[in-house]
Amino acid sequence: MAGKRALVVYDTKYGATEQIANWIAEGINDADIRHVDDVEGLDYDLVVVGTPIYNDMPSPRIVDFMDKYRDVLLNRKVALFTVSVPYDMTPERAKRYAGQKELKRLVDHVKGTIIASRAFLGKIDLKEMTELDRISLRIRYFLKGYRLKEVNFTNRDDAVGWGKNLYDLLTRPPEAIPPEPREK
Ligand SMILES: Cc1cc2nc3c(=O)[nH]c(=O)nc-3n(C[C@H](O)[C@H](O)[C@H](O)COP(=O)(O)O)c2cc1C
Repeated sequence: MAGKRALVVYDTKYGATEQIANWIAEGINDADIRHVDDVEGLDYDLVVVGTPIYNDMPSPRIVDFMDKYRDVLLNRKVALFTVSVPYDMTPERAKRYAGQKELKRLVDHVKGTIIASRAFLGKIDLKEMTELDRISLRIRYFLKGYRLKEVNFTNRDDAVGWGKNLYDLLTRPPEAIPPEPREK
């Protein structure tokens, strides 16, 4: 790719979204990558925005970022991804996880052309979590009738592959890219 044409912006608390953002950037081939607090400008053809999901919500910092740059993003290609671990996830279900609910919460904040969106699965690492997060997550699972356990559904091939798809979309002429349908 001649010059930097893509930026990956992410927020993360425990590193899963950052890891996936890095894999996506690798797939896009020489994309820039920035934590949402360190974004200096959006002078790129494609802006990829990724957020972890906590308590059914995207990161408030990512939502603020999208609202702050709303007008700029109107004139950019935008791709969105979420990272979450639904309480009822199993390795079997993980293979065909679509995460429409998680994505919708993010899509609603974008006015620009969304060329792609994807819900990735993250990880639950009880050791690295704060006591407060561990307790609140235990309660959350308990209320749903599930037991909290450690899992890691992050998948390098998936994320790099999605990045490669974005690269293909980016290098295609704009008229060849239909916008993603939005649920009303
Ligand atoms: C306190 C807490 C609340 C969470 N709430 C949700 C949730 O509502 N839905 C969900 O699918 N995953 C939820 N998760 C799982 C996270 O989305 C998952 O751990 C993800 O990998 C976190 O990304 P990060 O490592 O980039 O912070 C929660 C995790 C924690 C610790």
